[in-house]
Amino acid sequence: TQYTEEIKQFAPTSSADVENFRLKFLVSKGIVKSLFDEFKTVSVEEKRVLGMVLNEFKQFAEKTYQEAHEKFGANKSQAQKSEGDLTLPGQGLKLGSRHPLSLVRKEIVEIFKKLGFIVSEGPEIEDDWHNFSALNFPPEHPARDMQDTFFIKKQEGNDITLRTHTSSVQVRLMEAGKPPFRAIMPGRVYRNEAISARAHCFFHQVEGLYVDENVSFADLKQTLFHFVQELYGEGTQVRFRPSYFPFTEPSAEMDISCTICKGAGCQLCKYSGWVEILGCGMVDPNVLDNCGIDSKKYSGFAFGMGIERVTNLKYEIKDLRLFSENDVRFLSQFESEI
Ligand code: PHE
Repeated sequence: TQYTEEIKQFAPTSSADVENFRLKFLVSKGIVKSLFDEFKTVSVEEKRVLGMVLNEFKQFAEKTYQEAHEKFGANKSQAQKSEGDLTLPGQGLKLGSRHPLSLVRKEIVEIFKKLGFIVSEGPEIEDDWHNFSALNFPPEHPARDMQDTFFIKKQEGNDITLRTHTSSVQVRLMEAGKPPFRAIMPGRVYRNEAISARAHCFFHQVEGLYVDENVSFADLKQTLFHFVQELYGEGTQVRFRPSYFPFTEPSAEMDISCTICKGAGCQLCKYSGWVEILGCGMVDPNVLDNCGIDSKKYSGFAFGMGIERVTNLKYEIKDLRLFSENDVRFLSQFESEI
């Protein structure tokens, strides 16, 4: 009865009170257990009466504990819930941003699309024919060394390589269709160069091809001039310097007036006022013939630029390696661009 009174008066105010109750009454060295131990020592007659009393007491203690436990258990989780204000707006999901090279590739593609160029793609693993021979690189020609090639498999007359330029896609396009062709070829290319701030073993190109009757160097110049005005803004100047590529004749390299100093001279353009952005030229008739196009009837121009170079000039990026390191401090700077 003494304990029954105590239990009746049990009015827990915290889960600690509930736990203390359990430790006092219900554990194996607790009061309930010790009363049952005592019970073993009494006489058979006493057991009859006491047995009932004890069982009731035990159930009462357990029930009291159970109720208190539920009460404080429930209170506790309610307290936890109220730690956050459920009416507050949620935290938005953080979206990634476009890679600067993707942004610029998209921009280049958009500009040429408006001029009627389609986008054409091809494999990154190429054979010698598409990467070199069809493009008028004779075997053993030193121009093959201009592009340090990764070889995948040496095989008689037609090695398998990683493409060194997307000119290979021009060959595939011409072999598969009939003129006119008006296409650009964006894609990744590979060259066996030591990785530094200025060179990498892979980079990205957009090459372009326009083949039709009566295509002239004037068409090439005007198309590329227009492209530069669109990409770098009105008033950007261009100049063409004679150059050499096996697949174009004549060939040129195109410079633009430095995007940073506008021609006044700065570190980026090495104080010359000009920066080179692409190679171009009239498609060599041999290339047209190699691809099954009648070079007497058709002529064309081609050009090729590195997207990294174009991007560096647009965003003043000084280290090529940033493009492939996936550093969010770099990438998140392009979040506002679409
Ligand atoms: N394929 C050349 C390169 O990768 C670029 C180029 C393309 C030059 C088309 C002229 C005409 O360097």
